[in-house]
Amino acid sequence: MDKTFYITTPIYYVNDVPHIGHAYTTIVCDSLARFKRADGYDVFFLTGTDEHGQKVEKSAEERGEKPIDLANRVVNRFKELWEKLDVEYDRFIRTTEEAHKKSVEAIFNRVNDNGDIYLGAYEDWYCTPCEAFWTETQLIEGTCPDCGRATQKLSEPSYFFRMSKYGEHLLKHIEENPDFIQPVSRRNEVISFVREGLRDLSISRTTFNWGIPVPGDDTHVIYVWFDALTNYITGVGFPDEEGLFKKFWPADVHVVGKDILRFHTVYWPTFLMSAGIPLPKRVFAHGWWTVEGKKMSKSLGNVVDPGAMAEEYGIDQIRYFVMREVPFGLDGDFSREALVHRINSDLANDLGNLVSRVLSMVKKYRDGVVPKVSGFGDNPEDVELREALKVTLAETRKCVDDQAVHKALVTIWTFVRLVNKYVDTTGPWALAKDEDKADELDKVLYNMLEALRAIGLLVYPFMPGTGAEIWSRLGVEKPAAEGRFGDIEEWGGLRGGVETTRGEPLFPRIEAK
Ligand code: MSP
Repeated sequence: MDKTFYITTPIYYVNDVPHIGHAYTTIVCDSLARFKRADGYDVFFLTGTDEHGQKVEKSAEERGEKPIDLANRVVNRFKELWEKLDVEYDRFIRTTEEAHKKSVEAIFNRVNDNGDIYLGAYEDWYCTPCEAFWTETQLIEGTCPDCGRATQKLSEPSYFFRMSKYGEHLLKHIEENPDFIQPVSRRNEVISFVREGLRDLSISRTTFNWGIPVPGDDTHVIYVWFDALTNYITGVGFPDEEGLFKKFWPADVHVVGKDILRFHTVYWPTFLMSAGIPLPKRVFAHGWWTVEGKKMSKSLGNVVDPGAMAEEYGIDQIRYFVMREVPFGLDGDFSREALVHRINSDLANDLGNLVSRVLSMVKKYRDGVVPKVSGFGDNPEDVELREALKVTLAETRKCVDDQAVHKALVTIWTFVRLVNKYVDTTGPWALAKDEDKADELDKVLYNMLEALRAIGLLVYPFMPGTGAEIWSRLGVEKPAAEGRFGDIEEWGGLRGGVETTRGEPLFPRIEAK
């Protein structure tokens, strides 16, 4: 197979338990990965955990625990959550794995062999919670410009990476590859930053131990971002450059939050340039969620637990909401009111209702069996339906290639509403009263079911449980997970004579409190 697709989430710190922000990126990546798979691509989806660094060392210390024990515990929380949310990754990487250590050493050595690492002394303002250094001018009244917390001046021996050497090269790359950084507003931010000139970057620390030692000098550990970013190549087998690496690198897209864009579009590409490794094709930065209008924080006690939400409202309800509610790339607000509104209007009214009315009519008029038809009809509404599916599929593909998941869902829902309109226009209840219209009734019922089959596969990547349930109710033999968009490209793939199941409402309405 020659079409490949490699997508990654950030790797999550293990000093915090998973929340809706983590779940957001991971759900989107899972949906994009599933979509490409359904589109015939050989897909590799990587997620994992970022386990080294001072923050984790400190958290563990505070709990009287070894860092690795803390990591092991939190890693399970992440893995359990992904399972609960129907996230299916190909590889879960942990930076404490031996394979990762080898990979980090290898890239460090390559950068060093290229003359880009030197020993110096580091002095700057450090924000421990953010694991970031700031220059004097970047501080806001002495505090971290990202989180507003206190910073401390650090001076220590450190290995430096000659990032300054790569500024021009990086700018050229960004300019020649307009899609490299998305969305465009973010791209402009990075361009201005790089234009100001890049400083050399400190890539080792002597002030803590929890990390990968610098090859040849174990008084230093490798700075957490050099270690963390490398996960994207470890995940596909680096330093072995055959096999998975050859097949999947460079990654098609690194999906990240806006706060870590610079690490991914300045640090990471320059490390790779120095090491002579091709750059990822795209970095897409999404926005941040607030909760009921407020910044999410432990101190406010408003951290949204996605697992608990999924238990309360349903997995696909949560997946749909986070992807549909906010244009991917912008900030958004998570509120119960908005969630309930989406569930009731888009899911219960539009999709759930369509599935239940179509299957009820098939039950009532044709004993639940898919009619056998000799043609699909040439009335304007029949033609419109078939044409609309083609357009829907093409547009959804385009949206997915742009990481515009919200638009992909809008596109699919336009089709869902059209099918609802088809039901209203053709009026099977009237046709059923007239014996002479039996063939016509067969045809319209068939078309509705065929449209549902297409919808089942289209929603599957975003809402796997729902897609699978629709296919199973239609009596489709193949599990939706194995469905390919090729299966719905030609109208009429649904087999006649097969028994359907009416089932319970897919999305029970929620009474607003
Ligand atoms: N470990 C680093 C990433 C290394 S990638 C080589 C890290 N980890 S993190 O756990 O702090 O954050 C991971 C992701 O969660 C980031 O992309 C961040 O943007 C995202 N989010 C954290 N809070 C968020 C919201 N409130 N809303 C949306 N996403 C948020 O950074």
